[in-house]
Amino acid sequence: MKKKITILPGDGIGPEVVDQGLKVINAINQSFDHKFELKEADFGAISIDKHGTPLTDKTLKECLSSDAIFLGAIGDPKYDNNPNLPVRPEQGLLKLRKSLELFSNIRPISTYDLLFNVSPLKSTLLKDVDFVIYRELTGGIYFGEKKLSEDKTIASDLCEYSDKEISRIAYQAFEAAAARRKKLTLVDKANVLETSRLWRRVIQEISQEYPDVEVDYLFVDNAAMQIVLNPGQFDVILTENMFGDIISDLASVITGSLGMLPSASVGKKVALFEPIHGSYPQAQGLDIANPMAAILSVAMMYEHFGLFQEADMIKNGIKWALANDVVTQDLSADKEASPCSKIGDVLAWYIEEKGELKIKTDPANVSLNCII
Ligand code: IPM
Ligand code: MG
Repeated sequence: MKKKITILPGDGIGPEVVDQGLKVINAINQSFDHKFELKEADFGAISIDKHGTPLTDKTLKECLSSDAIFLGAIGDPKYDNNPNLPVRPEQGLLKLRKSLELFSNIRPISTYDLLFNVSPLKSTLLKDVDFVIYRELTGGIYFGEKKLSEDKTIASDLCEYSDKEISRIAYQAFEAAAARRKKLTLVDKANVLETSRLWRRVIQEISQEYPDVEVDYLFVDNAAMQIVLNPGQFDVILTENMFGDIISDLASVITGSLGMLPSASVGKKVALFEPIHGSYPQAQGLDIANPMAAILSVAMMYEHFGLFQEADMIKNGIKWALANDVVTQDLSADKEASPCSKIGDVLAWYIEEKGELKIKTDPANVSLNCII
């Protein structure tokens, strides 16, 4: 298959984790005879430094003319604590999402037995946790009108949704639920917000078309609690932009590390794939970041193109790395940590060897360092 992929390494650890994802794409190109061409573009704080804007017309054009986008992370602390700055990296991300109409952000949450020891939750709660969050990404309070009074003492952000904005992502979530364990949970705040009541009405209507899918409704405060108390109860969670932002970070740590969670943003045009973690500036340049979320985002990209064998190869490679303690420091607990750059090498090697690596069962117990 031939595809054009725009690479947006971004800020902080973005470029380091993206590099590992690129090793994987190149290995898949070789092993499966695909031609995924990679073209890098500036985005985020680095683009502000170079061009005065987080998203240049050139980068946007590049993205619009590609088949998919692979993004690292954006953000820089120099923008976080100064609310008076007129230009900030996040504006670039929001503009990109809006321009590409990426209305559906898909964040799968699953646990790995091998990581139970690094999860903040008890192992008994982690068994069989496997759910996916469908977060609306181009509407709601993120994009509503913003106001600041002239004397700068009163501010407001409008939260607005139309039935069309709700139904287009709802159909995706229902389809996903129908193909999975047939349960959909709408997370809202319908006891307080008019927009949430509209979400409920639209979901109730659409649910008539999916009689096999069980639908339940949770207020977002209760949902936050339930995700910690009993995460195994969820299959597909559907929610609006802001609630989705918050509960997906909450859900992500269940797995043991924010560094394990990939995401896909899909809409009408090009799709975008990115780890859900941020730019983690404290780790920049130290080669300690966990690139598995970025690599798993690459797997989601292959799934998006219908290349399931390739995606499975990557996911199995990640499981293999975990089983063989090839993990970065966030997951290593008391064991020796691997650098970020080694994870990409090991995954590429796994793919080139078509998954035929059996270090753990090797009687000589050859260390990975010797082999690579
Ligand atoms: C995310 C991030 C973004 C968001 C930020 C960087 C604007 O937190 O993708 O979850 O809030 O959507
Ligand atoms: Mg977020």
